[in-house]
Parts: sequence; C-alpha cells; structure tokens
Amino acid sequence: MALPVIPNHIAIVMDGNGRWASKRFMPRIAGHKQGVDALKGIVSACAKRGVQVLTVFAFSSENWNRPAEEVSGLMDILALALGREVPQLLKDGVRLHFVGSRGGLSERVSRGLADAESATAGNSRLILNVCFNYGGRWDIAQAAAKLAAAGQAVTEASLNGALALSHCPDPDLVIRTGGEMRISNFLLWQAAYSELYFSDLLWPDFDEAALDTAVHWFASRERRFGKTSEQIAPTAVGPG
Ligand code: IPE
Ligand code: IPE
Ligand code: MG
Repeated sequence: MALPVIPNHIAIVMDGNGRWASKRFMPRIAGHKQGVDALKGIVSACAKRGVQVLTVFAFSSENWNRPAEEVSGLMDILALALGREVPQLLKDGVRLHFVGSRGGLSERVSRGLADAESATAGNSRLILNVCFNYGGRWDIAQAAAKLAAAGQAVTEASLNGALALSHCPDPDLVIRTGGEMRISNFLLWQAAYSELYFSDLLWPDFDEAALDTAVHWFASRERRFGKTSEQIAPTAVGPG
C-alpha cells in the first residue's frame, strides 16, 4: 500500500491490555507487558513513516483507582522499560518526554523518567510523549494555576503555551484501541480538531498494518476547521 498524507502528530489511547490478557487466562499485568512490545513496534513504524510526534496514553490520573497490585505492576513495568529501551530509542533518534504530574510517583520512577528524558534530549527524528499520571483536566488546571501564579492573563494563546504539551502542535489523528468510543480524559484541549479513529483491536494486537489502516483512513478525511467544504477544496478550473 502506498502511504498517503502522513499525520504530523499521532496520539493513541492504548486500551485493551487487560482484556487481551483475560482472554488468554493470564493476569492483567501480562497484558501490560505485551502492550510495551506493541508500543515498541508502533514507535519504530512511526519513525519510519516520517511521523514527527507520537503521543501515547500510558497511565491516567484515574488509573490510580485500580487494584494496588496492578498499579504497582504498572510502575515496575515502566521502570524496567526505561532502563531497557533507552539504547534503542537513541538508535532510532527518538526524543522522550514524559507528560503528566510527577506527584505520587516513587523516587525510583521519577528519577528514571528524568534520566530517560535527558539521555534522549539530543534526538530529533521523532518526539515520543508518554502521558503518564496524566489527565486532560489536570493539564488545563495546572496551566491555569501557572498563569495565575505568574500574574498572567488567561487567553487561548497563554493557556496553550502553559500546557504540558506546548512543545508540540496539536494531534492530527487520535487513535483509540480496545473498542471504546470515549476520550477518558486524554488531550481534552489539544484534540479540538483531531480526527478520531476507533479500533476494535486490543492494544497488544495493534501492529504496523493496523497503523497503516488508520493512516489511510486519516488521509481520506476532509479537515474543515469550521469552514465549508467549498472553501477547503482546491479552486476548480472552469472550462476554457
Ligand atoms: C490500557 O489497558 C492500559 C492502561 C490503562 C494502563 P487496560 O488495562 O485499560 O485494558 P482493558 O481496557 O481493561 O482491557
Ligand atoms: C484510558 O484507558 C487510559 C489509558 C489507556 C492509559 P482506561 O481503560 O483507563 O479508560 P476507561 O476507564 O475504560 O474509560
Ligand atoms: Mg481500559
């Protein structure tokens, strides 16, 4: 398949790890481990296709409400992946950013996040934002609080600049796997004009071919940003 218009920024709600594991009579945590492998495949597929920014939802502000065993398992998986994957990210030219509150994270995890960010800070082929301990509402509130503390007026531009993803343009394409058609507190501000793509695949099953299907679907969308179709279409050439 020839690849069409590539979105500059793809954002993904990586949902369905638990169900992937349950279907195999495995503990949910095994699904999260498999989810890391799926993510590795998608990161390199995005880098190969010339995507500039990939933003993934790895742990939401609300995911703290899961059983303690699952939460600590997820923290362990993150800490392990950080230690193991940085060399590959360096080879692939991936720059990591962790987006979310550092509050509530253990010393080991916060240090791991900061170290991985600084180790990859010189890369520029693909920006990988990992939303961890993140919520769209948290982000808007922290941005407003930052402006208030600095005595700055709240405008769309100033708020936009204070958000945790201010280093990136808004996502063009938001993908959610796992079959749910909801946003679950992901990029509430930034997804204002994103194309939304829902896949029934569970995240560990989402592979390069599935990514291409989503990208092809994206290329067929007409993005109007509030205008009419006629304003968007290239000017028709009249007869003569
Ligand atoms: C997404 O998979 C990963 C996280 C939320 C951490 P889930 O764990 O939500 O998987 P399901 O939705 O229960 O299958
Ligand atoms: C969204 O998935 C969060 C992540 C993928 C990290 P959830 O599984 O937490 O979403 P809900 O609870 O089904 O809405
Ligand atoms: Mg889920």
